[in-house]
Amino acid sequence: MTLLIACSSRAEQFAAEIRAHDPQLDIRIAPDTGPLEAIRYALVWQPPAGLLAALPNLQLIVSVGAGVDALLDDPSTPVRPLVRFVDNDLTTRMAEYVVLNVLYHHRRMTEFRELQTRRTWTYLPEPAARDVRVGIMGLGVLGTAAATALRPFGYQLRAWTRTPKGLEGVTCFTGTHQLDPFLAETDIAVVLLPLTPQTRGLLNRSFLRKLSLRGRSPLLPGPVLINAGRGGLQVDADVLSALSAGELYAASLDVFESEPLPPPSPLWAHPRVVITPHNAAESAPAAIARYAVRQIKTHARGGKLENVVHRARGY
Ligand code: NAP
Ligand code: GLV
Repeated sequence: MTLLIACSSRAEQFAAEIRAHDPQLDIRIAPDTGPLEAIRYALVWQPPAGLLAALPNLQLIVSVGAGVDALLDDPSTPVRPLVRFVDNDLTTRMAEYVVLNVLYHHRRMTEFRELQTRRTWTYLPEPAARDVRVGIMGLGVLGTAAATALRPFGYQLRAWTRTPKGLEGVTCFTGTHQLDPFLAETDIAVVLLPLTPQTRGLLNRSFLRKLSLRGRSPLLPGPVLINAGRGGLQVDADVLSALSAGELYAASLDVFESEPLPPPSPLWAHPRVVITPHNAAESAPAAIARYAVRQIKTHARGGKLENVVHRARGY
């Protein structure tokens, strides 16, 4: 069985971990593909355009990312079973990121950091967690883990999804028609949506204004945006203008329209923006190896694959 690893980074690390899990697998690392006909499986993250289409006997594509928007956006991606990465390791990392950033803004840490640089001892009022409304956009694998991790703090939890969902302790909103009522009850928006034609550009000025006008806790200076979904969900310039206009109080952004975030972007220097380089929840090589080998073995014995992407749905 031949597996091609076509990843824009860490391909050698993935290969080493996979060899440790399954020494029998014949592993190739792009661009050294060897004979293309031999390749049955592909483990990919941002593969070169057209590479997968050139593999005549490809049977399964395993995505290193949980999000598969780049693969689905590429018209050359062949129509083969595509499984995305879902693993407790990644899920736990995302829950950590969300808890860290919700607490950071709820406890007004951007302002305390700024006061510290001026050696200024100033009391700032902070709401109790029970008075802060956290709205999670996307209640899939990651949104559910984030909600579950936030629950013990006592936040008022809401979620917004495409289809009706239920989760203990979370008030659920569904579909475009319930987006405005959801925003009206949200102080801190946590975005864990996939990038699809329906969600692209959703986090624009009009969205941010709705948060500002209607979603305001009496003790927080303004609404907060936390985006760990995809950069294409947000309009970077609108986030900046909403911050400047006071419509948005602060943001934690892990993803951007263009990555790496270009050095001239004013987002870098904004005192109330927390920037991380798209590593809210990394796909760790050991976890990827465990997962990819399991999926390949399942496929080889004709078993049922896990986490198969629904192409028409886009995630
Ligand atoms: P998932 O399990 O597929 O969940 C996606 C959620 O989004 C579902 O609740 C879905 O609604 C909802 N959704 C999709 N389209 C929607 C729409 N048009 N309107 C409202 N809700 C919509 O995905 P996941 O594993 O939680 O991952 C979510 C995303 O996180 C990934 O796609 C990826 O982009 C991102 N991610 C980022 C990082 C990072 O490091 N920054 C790491 C991993 C993943 P339904 O429940 O109704 O289907
Ligand atoms: C990372 O962004 C992922 O989709 O897993």
